[in-house]
Amino acid sequence: MNRLLDISRLDAGYGAVRVLNSISIHVDMGESIGLFGPNGHGKTTMLRAISGLLRPSTGKITFDGKDITTAKSPAIVEAGLIHAPQGNTLFGNMKIAETLELAAIGRRARKDAKKRLEMVYELFPRLGERKSQLAKTLSGGERQMLSIGCALMCVPRLLMLDEPTLGLSPRLKEELAEAIGKISKNGVPLIVVEQDVECLLSLTDRLYLIEHGSVVREINRDNAPDHAEVMKLYFGEGAH
Ligand SMILES: Nc1ncnc2c1ncn2[C@@H]1O[C@H](COP(=O)(O)OP(=O)(O)OP(=O)(O)O)[C@@H](O)[C@H]1O
Ligand SMILES: [Mg+2]
Repeated sequence: MNRLLDISRLDAGYGAVRVLNSISIHVDMGESIGLFGPNGHGKTTMLRAISGLLRPSTGKITFDGKDITTAKSPAIVEAGLIHAPQGNTLFGNMKIAETLELAAIGRRARKDAKKRLEMVYELFPRLGERKSQLAKTLSGGERQMLSIGCALMCVPRLLMLDEPTLGLSPRLKEELAEAIGKISKNGVPLIVVEQDVECLLSLTDRLYLIEHGSVVREINRDNAPDHAEVMKLYFGEGAH
């Protein structure tokens, strides 16, 4: 089978609360996928389970043919599964350049780190112009760029982006989507979580609609819902 990532019947949650309910998704070699669905239905939890930040109670995760269901985060990062978390605001008292350099953790990432740093500045010129600015003083959009930049420093073989354009102005959202498109064109497969179905379809090949921790629908360009249908998905019957 030509699968890069295969997730089969995964259950996971927090304490007694189960969030993921026998969820199955996959990413084939050379494709990118999107996840969308109502708030609080398990999209972030899914990425956390894949990244080894949350241990699934049942089910199986295979990456590039290897069972990583119980692997720890450092091993998952070393394998090339990289996760840029939602709403990343944890940047501290370090300059942009230092933050990016420190992000290159692991053997694979340290090799060619200088070249990758230049690549990140090329992709996000705003970061390149602010190399010595403290990361904690960046705007929301610049933080998102830095967060994706840090993920790129880890040499992703599959890059997971959790709501990378959340809270950004339409112009900045477009700028970021364009950069994400370039990452995928350069051969890095993506899992993108995003509420905007149109934007998701422009960045990825296939989408999963997630509700109550399960896949309820698979969408591609041929069966994409129209605006009214999307409104119904998010707001229920009667939405306009
Ligand atoms: N650390 C945690 N401890 C307990 N419950 C949690 C924790 N993190 C998330 N949850 C709960 O798990 C459920 C799913 O959350 P999750 O963050 O996966 O949703 P989401 O689909 O990413 O939502 P959003 O679109 O708002 O980002 C929610 O009910 C949330 O409150
Ligand atoms: Mg989320």
